[in-house]
Amino acid sequence: MPPGAAHGDRFYDFEYMTENKRGRQTRHPSNRPQKAPTGFAPRSEAIRLLDAILSARKPFDEVWAKSLENGALKTMSEPDRGLTRLIVMTTLRRLRHIDDILSTFIKKPLPQTAQSVRNILRTAIAQLHFLKSPPHAVLNIATSLAAMERSTRPFKGLINGVLRTYTRTDPEKFSGPNAASVNTPEWLHKRWQHQFGRENADLIACAHRLEPALDISVKADAQLWAEKLKGTLLPTGSIRIAGAGNPVKLAGFDEGSWWVQDAAASLPVKLMGDIAGRHVLDLCSAPGGKTAQLLAARAKVTAVERSPQRMKRLAQNLDRLGFEADLVIADAGEYSPPVPPDAILLDAPCTATGTIRRHPDVLYLKTLKNITDLAQVQKRLIDHAAEILKPGCSLLYCVCSLEHEEGEDQITEFLKKTRGFSLDPIRKAELPGLEQALQSRGAVRILTHFIADAETGLRGIDGFYIARLIKS
Ligand SMILES: C[S@@+](CC[C@H](N)C(=O)[O-])C[C@H]1O[C@@H](n2cnc3c(N)ncnc32)[C@H](O)[C@@H]1O
Repeated sequence: MPPGAAHGDRFYDFEYMTENKRGRQTRHPSNRPQKAPTGFAPRSEAIRLLDAILSARKPFDEVWAKSLENGALKTMSEPDRGLTRLIVMTTLRRLRHIDDILSTFIKKPLPQTAQSVRNILRTAIAQLHFLKSPPHAVLNIATSLAAMERSTRPFKGLINGVLRTYTRTDPEKFSGPNAASVNTPEWLHKRWQHQFGRENADLIACAHRLEPALDISVKADAQLWAEKLKGTLLPTGSIRIAGAGNPVKLAGFDEGSWWVQDAAASLPVKLMGDIAGRHVLDLCSAPGGKTAQLLAARAKVTAVERSPQRMKRLAQNLDRLGFEADLVIADAGEYSPPVPPDAILLDAPCTATGTIRRHPDVLYLKTLKNITDLAQVQKRLIDHAAEILKPGCSLLYCVCSLEHEEGEDQITEFLKKTRGFSLDPIRKAELPGLEQALQSRGAVRILTHFIADAETGLRGIDGFYIARLIKS
């Protein structure tokens, strides 16, 4: 069954809402009050969330959390929340392809002010073309949604016409030849071509089209948990679960046996070697996936994080896992521990272009200026970390970004100007299953298409850059 069809789509007629002469909505006298039908609330909320992401330029996580706390998602059932999320994510992952499809039907561009109309159409095409939802439900709800708002009402006929025409057209007509790159904004695709070559840039873009599986890190007994959760134990040590649904509902979550962490995000700590009993300074630590790993490896951890809210989340995560660390709310570029640490992990703030599979909003929210601004922040943080590190100890630098300015260039510049530091080359044997990520000088560059298991269909991994440095 296609994903969109699993949510009980049914036909509901909203045409009992009519408009009186002053433009106010009134209920048609022949109809009794009706309660909101199944499928309406998730679709309506998906459009509202897209408006907030694409027009107000707010990150998905922020608008989702706000709605869960105070908005429509708060009272929505779990399956309806799932449908809302699926529609928003699919629309963001396929946005430019969807806009291409729409442009074949809408010859005159919609006015700039018609953002909600655009998003009603986009979400409808996402459901029809990519999620294969039943057309009658999608069409009726889309036109009904248009009828409900004064700003979208004049476009109700257009929405109905476009979607009806789509349903009468052969969908094959819309699988364009450059489907690999079409969903990536041109400036980003060009950067990736320049950095990694055309083929890799296309493969990265392809990986972004897929709903990623759930990756988890376990405290212990990985093979056992892989079997219990019907997952696959990856060579990197993470467990990958396809179609897992809401992770908090899975066995072992409440007991704190594991935590959600992408397979790539779990590598930096693994590359720190034996840290049992050593004092590790975890700079930029929330929400704490790597802090949990450090603690599972029996290190003594001081976790530093600038955002009090994010630190609260880290504390809750550690609490669930039964771990304890020293938590410090501070700027990692200024914090100096009373005793110099034995090792530092700097998981620096970045543009997160390596996480587009899970955060497709990044495609539309990040700009070139974000890259250059964040490269400055990273430079300040790494310089400070270098200063407070004990001689003979390691500094592990990583970012979940695909951009050279935040990874390769950052480390090249740092090594050029910082005396006493060199790369401690990572070896192939330390990267089981990800050997192709090893660069000639011993740093690691993971691209989003690097794990591809044709047999299980478990594809993709977050993009990361990792360098292990040593202070002489
Ligand atoms: C990439 S995330 C860290 C992810 C975390 N290490 C993990 O594995 O769960 C970067 C974090 O750095 C924090 N941050 C940004 N600037 C900072 C600064 N100057 N000092 C400390 N933390 C900072 C952000 O709030 C964010 O939580």
